[in-house]
Amino acid sequence: MTPRVDQEALKRTVALAAVDAVAASLGAGQIVGVGTGSTTNHFIDALAKLKDRFEAAVSSSIASAERLAAHGVRVVDLNDAETIAVYVDGADEVEPGGALIKGGGGAHTREKIVAAAADRFICIVDDSKMVDTLGAFGVPVEVVPMARRSVAGRLRALGGDVRERTGFVTDNGNGVLDVHGLAITDPDALETRINNLAGVVENGIFAANRPDLVLVGAPDGIREFAPP
Ligand code: A5P
Repeated sequence: MTPRVDQEALKRTVALAAVDAVAASLGAGQIVGVGTGSTTNHFIDALAKLKDRFEAAVSSSIASAERLAAHGVRVVDLNDAETIAVYVDGADEVEPGGALIKGGGGAHTREKIVAAAADRFICIVDDSKMVDTLGAFGVPVEVVPMARRSVAGRLRALGGDVRERTGFVTDNGNGVLDVHGLAITDPDALETRINNLAGVVENGIFAANRPDLVLVGAPDGIREFAPP
C-alpha cells in the first residue's frame, strides 16, 4: 500500500526552507512581508524564532498580523515601511510558468499589494498545488458589495460558473465571488480582464507580478524554480 502523504508536514518543510532562504539576508532594519494561510502559518512560526534579526513584518491579513503579534514580532503598516526585503506566501495553484491562483482565504487583495511592494516574492507550496493549467480551484474575485450582482453577470458572460462566498467578508469589508469553469490558458490577460470590470477590487490570479522563486515541498524533498 502506498503510504499516505502528510500534506501538513510538506507545508511545514517548505515553510522551513523559506525561512532558510530569507535568513541569510535578514538584517537589522529589514522588513519582511508575510502572506496568509496554513502554509504561511508555518513560516510565521519559524520566522518568529529569528525576530531579533529583523526590524518588523508587514502582514497581508488581520489573521497573520495577529499570529505575528502573538509571537512578539513587531507588525507595521505597509505605509510605514520604506522597503520590504522579501514577501513570502502560499498559493492555491501554481502553473509551470509561475502564475498563481490565490485567495482561498479571501486575502488575495492585500497579498497582491504587499507582494508587489516587496523587492523579492517567494511562493511556498506543497506539491498538491502544482497544476498544468490554472483554473480547477476557481478564481476568487473580491467585489465591492453593491457590485456583486453586476460583476457576477459579467463573469458569467466570460464563461464562468459564479458562486458567492456566502457569509464571508474580506479584511477590506468586501465580498468574494468564486469563479469556476474557466480554463486559464492566458493568466495575464484574464487577470487584467477581470480587474477591469467595474466593482472588482482584485482577483486571485497572480500573473503580472509572478514570484521570483517558487519552493515546492514534495515527499522526495524541496524542488525550486524561478519563473521567467
Ligand atoms: C489566502 O487568501 C490565500 O491566498 C492563501 O495564500 C492560499 O489560499 C494558500 O493557503 P494554504 O497555504 O492554506 O493552502
